[in-house]
Amino acid sequence: MQRFENNTYHLQGLTPEQLIEEFGSPLYVYNAATIRNKVAELQSAFEGVNLKIKYACKANTNLAILKLMREMGVELDVVSPGEMEMGKIAGFEPSQITFTPSGVPFWEVAQAVDAGAIVNIDSLPLLEWFGQTYGSSKPCMIRIKPNVAAGGNEKIMTAHADSKFGISVLLLTDILNIVDQYQIKVIGLHQHTGSDIKDAAPFIQVADILLDAARHFKDLEIIDLGGGFKVSYRPGDGITDMQHLGAKISDRFHKFCKEYGRPLQLWFEPGKFLVSESGYLLTTVTVVKQDPARNFVHIDSGLNHLIRPMMYGSYHHIINTSNPEGEEKHYNVVGYICETDTFATDRVLAEVRKGDILAFMNAGAYGITMSSNYNARFRPAEVLIEEGQARLIRRKETLEDLLRTQEGL
Ligand code: LLP
Repeated sequence: MQRFENNTYHLQGLTPEQLIEEFGSPLYVYNAATIRNKVAELQSAFEGVNLKIKYACKANTNLAILKLMREMGVELDVVSPGEMEMGKIAGFEPSQITFTPSGVPFWEVAQAVDAGAIVNIDSLPLLEWFGQTYGSSKPCMIRIKPNVAAGGNEKIMTAHADSKFGISVLLLTDILNIVDQYQIKVIGLHQHTGSDIKDAAPFIQVADILLDAARHFKDLEIIDLGGGFKVSYRPGDGITDMQHLGAKISDRFHKFCKEYGRPLQLWFEPGKFLVSESGYLLTTVTVVKQDPARNFVHIDSGLNHLIRPMMYGSYHHIINTSNPEGEEKHYNVVGYICETDTFATDRVLAEVRKGDILAFMNAGAYGITMSSNYNARFRPAEVLIEEGQARLIRRKETLEDLLRTQEGL
């Protein structure tokens, strides 16, 4: 969010007050320019490499965002038939979509393969079934678990030895035996280390592990290193140095391709990196409660709209956009759900008054997609800002939406 000269906040010239007046509160707002910049930043870090970006759309599946990605030449990583269908509706060809399941029923895999998508096989039983079902007639990729622990918190680490994801690299011989037995055409190796990883070191470590395993496969076209780049949730937070990482990985990748004997594609599948910073959750203060222990600020939102702080203890920066010059005070920012849905504890904010707008930063990834109807509350509207124009890309839910799937009314 930028500031005008008079210190008030705006997004491409539109103030939070204007946006809420037009579209209601609370409201998810996305800045398309930020998404475009992030795509360009990633592309420039891997110049000279045959790079493909596969947006991990679990971060945000709004069709307007999917279409924006498609327009920029970004392809898709999906984890469910629902995401696959959203991708197709947004105009992606199935061949541009990778399905990265996690222990799903095999019919989901069959559906994706038959539609023409590439699947990342994540277990030996699935690999065996794939071989029996398709032999060498359909290509696939294999998700390797490199046994490396990295990520912002334990819940979002996906590559350590105890993680459920992928096939352990220690089972490489078993993988190769099954591939050999059914002549499976493995065109790619995949891994995803986790989310919110700042340092280049774990990315490099897993790249080395994956490239080492890759030497044993003869049909490879793709190395997919997953997503997980860190974004800046707190002011001053360190983030992944993409230029440094790009140089290190590109160097290894070029060397590997030379040894392997032909040029391969390098894939990344970021979610957060591409959309987190583009998004804001705008909320309105309902009550300021001065308690002997704390000042509580209640807002017209809760864990039903943004669950990251409660689920992961994540920090989301909050700005009181209605009172930027106000005296700084300490507050607990809490929601309206009948649970302890604390967004922030002892947070310093410019003095908060009833009716003020509080903007949550970094709400573009895993905000709306992790939202719910808990307490029979409605999901908020979503708006995309492009070239100074705000466009409604999802309306606020109504009671009818909540009742739609209930029978016998
Ligand atoms: N690829 C795979 C196979 C994944 O499982 C994920 C995320 C990604 C890519 C994208 O990761 P990213 O670039 O967004 O870090 N809900 C959590 C994050 C969980 C991500 C799960 N998988 C959060 O809000 O922090």
